[in-house]
Amino acid sequence: MRTAVYPGSFDPFTIGHLDVMKRACETFDLVYVALLNNSAKRPFFSKDERVGFIDAAMAKENVTNYKISSFDGLLVDFVKQVGAGFIVRGLRAVTDFEYEFQINAMNRKLAPDIDTVYFMAEPENLFLSSSIVKEVASYGGSIRGLVPDINEKTIAERLLQR
Ligand code: PNS
Repeated sequence: MRTAVYPGSFDPFTIGHLDVMKRACETFDLVYVALLNNSAKRPFFSKDERVGFIDAAMAKENVTNYKISSFDGLLVDFVKQVGAGFIVRGLRAVTDFEYEFQINAMNRKLAPDIDTVYFMAEPENLFLSSSIVKEVASYGGSIRGLVPDINEKTIAERLLQR
């Protein structure tokens, strides 16, 4: 059984994340979405909200071979804990590359048995990020098409109160 872990903050889950998840779930038997719990990064949305957004979006796509967990500390330790062999990451513009290259080098050093698989963002998602979604929605701009439709209203309303 091929198991992978898709880590991130998912604050909130965008259509770019959804695209990567769908492709990862087609490639692997089981995909763990791993929400980062590290206190250094304070997410705007609570863990329960972020889990709810992911579950709602995945249910709409009829994809079921995934689980959601959160983790503290090192990603490779979580990957080993769940018995996975791969990490999944999405790649957008060139700017992602340097950061991803660095994390990959460190993860490979820490755990040479774990490999990372990258899914290239679709061209329409190249400049999409959770930070941009938060910025636009907090000033009342439309986030239609940037987050899964089923979560759009809740995310927009929560961010307007920011
Ligand atoms: O979506 P993000 O916020 O870019 O995800 C970053 C993430 C979660 C992949 C990265 O911060 C991470 O793996 N953090 C856990 C700490 C860790 O393992 N660090 C060592 C690799 S540099």
